[in-house]
Amino acid sequence: MITLIKVILCLCLPLVVFGQAATGGDRGILTPPVSRKPRINGAKVYGVRPGHPFLYRIPATGARPMKFSARKLPKDLKLDSHTGVITGTVKKPGDYSVTLSAVNALGKAKRKFRIVAGKTLALSPPMGWSSWYMAYANIDDKLIRAEADAMISSGLADHGYSYINIDDGWNVKPGATDPAIGGEPRNADGTLKPNRNFPDMSALTAYVHEKGLKTGIYISPGTRTCGGYEGSYQHEEQDARLFAKWGFDFLKYDLCSYSKLMKDPNDSDELQKPYRLMGTILEQLNRDFVFNLCEYGRGDVWKWGSEVGGNFWRTTGDLGDPQKGLWDSVSKIGFSEAGKEQWAGPGGWNDPDNILIGHILQHDELVPTPLTHNEQYTHVTLWALLAAPMLFGGDMTQLDPFTLSLLTNDEVIDVDQDTLGKQAKPVYRSGDLQIWAKDLEGGSKAVGLFNLGESETEVTAQWSDLGLQGKQIVRDIWRQKDVGIFDNEFHASVGRHGAALMVIRASR
Ligand code: GAL
Repeated sequence: MITLIKVILCLCLPLVVFGQAATGGDRGILTPPVSRKPRINGAKVYGVRPGHPFLYRIPATGARPMKFSARKLPKDLKLDSHTGVITGTVKKPGDYSVTLSAVNALGKAKRKFRIVAGKTLALSPPMGWSSWYMAYANIDDKLIRAEADAMISSGLADHGYSYINIDDGWNVKPGATDPAIGGEPRNADGTLKPNRNFPDMSALTAYVHEKGLKTGIYISPGTRTCGGYEGSYQHEEQDARLFAKWGFDFLKYDLCSYSKLMKDPNDSDELQKPYRLMGTILEQLNRDFVFNLCEYGRGDVWKWGSEVGGNFWRTTGDLGDPQKGLWDSVSKIGFSEAGKEQWAGPGGWNDPDNILIGHILQHDELVPTPLTHNEQYTHVTLWALLAAPMLFGGDMTQLDPFTLSLLTNDEVIDVDQDTLGKQAKPVYRSGDLQIWAKDLEGGSKAVGLFNLGESETEVTAQWSDLGLQGKQIVRDIWRQKDVGIFDNEFHASVGRHGAALMVIRASR
């Protein structure tokens, strides 16, 4: 009977590519080329604290020149119509419904955008880049500027990527013999010093801000960072004030040597202490800091991360642990997010670590990710379904078309950034096959079909597992194409370690 319905549907809808939506062996680029017509991308909601500096670059694709405008922008915000960068401050708390527009010679795009001036930041998962997996601690001012340039020139910023995050290695490493990073870590008054590779932090943040992008800094609550650089222990407020003075917008706070100061490194109360302290300090600063907790998921951080002021928290150890195979880590860490969904939402997200595609460090060499194409689809599909922060860990100055296609599919990004802020959960697991579903604003569902096995297999999503009934329109999000209308179930053939990503909505 079901087969009969399928045959009828296929006959009625000649365009349906039935059961082969996103299939096959190892897939190449599926994301359609970026249109030259304007499209406004990225988050649809944005949190800011009243009275604090506001900086938002409207992410929009399409041919330049482009002219931007905004209706009902809170007063005291100013939009540069050529760059699309909004600056100023929102003085009064409130929920402001703005309409953004972008016009070029080929057309016009509009998008509703809510600015919520209140306590909560990161109302959608932060998007950006982090230095760790492309350089480890071998970073300097020049590298960070080059990556900021590349976030613009590669087009990533036009899809919503905005944070340029400096990880470990920017300050002094006590005891190091290399004069570039060694020396006294603090001035006589306790002020923290950057190392010689970062001659002027304020100039660096200004350089990034000038592009409409934001920038993050990294330190440990312990005496040393994981790489052995100076930590903030007993200088927490002084350091946070310095980061604010320099103009940073984001802090990753990495437990590292703080473990040694704890009686039990897994005790949740003890773990909360340094994060609560820094969370409270950050809240009192005169600029917004997105606060990233990094303590590897100890003490069930997802249960208290929000409460101590965190905006997202690593749920596990390093995704790119050099001792482990990357596919092993992506599949283990990614799929182990199941069960943590109730703790994720606007303002506080589970973080399975950076997106490790493109050129990343492998055994100290910057080389293409060891993940196959299918594995990369699984990685990005899963992170989008999980509403995970989209922090790219590779080198933005050498993005190949395939990597770029994975990072810039706006419909996939929309799944990640959806305003409901739900984390997907598994609705079906059997052997190597898994199906995960995420509720989206407006009643549709994003559904991921995963095959962790070694050969291509058909994966079937049953409406009964998804809580759906009747005729549904299935859209292949990677290809950005409706596949057809289906009753009861949808199936796709999925390659080894691969994934398909659908959005399913009722057909009326
Ligand atoms: C690890 C952390 C990594 C990176 C590194 C820097 O503890 O999980 O994300 O920040 O330290 O040394």
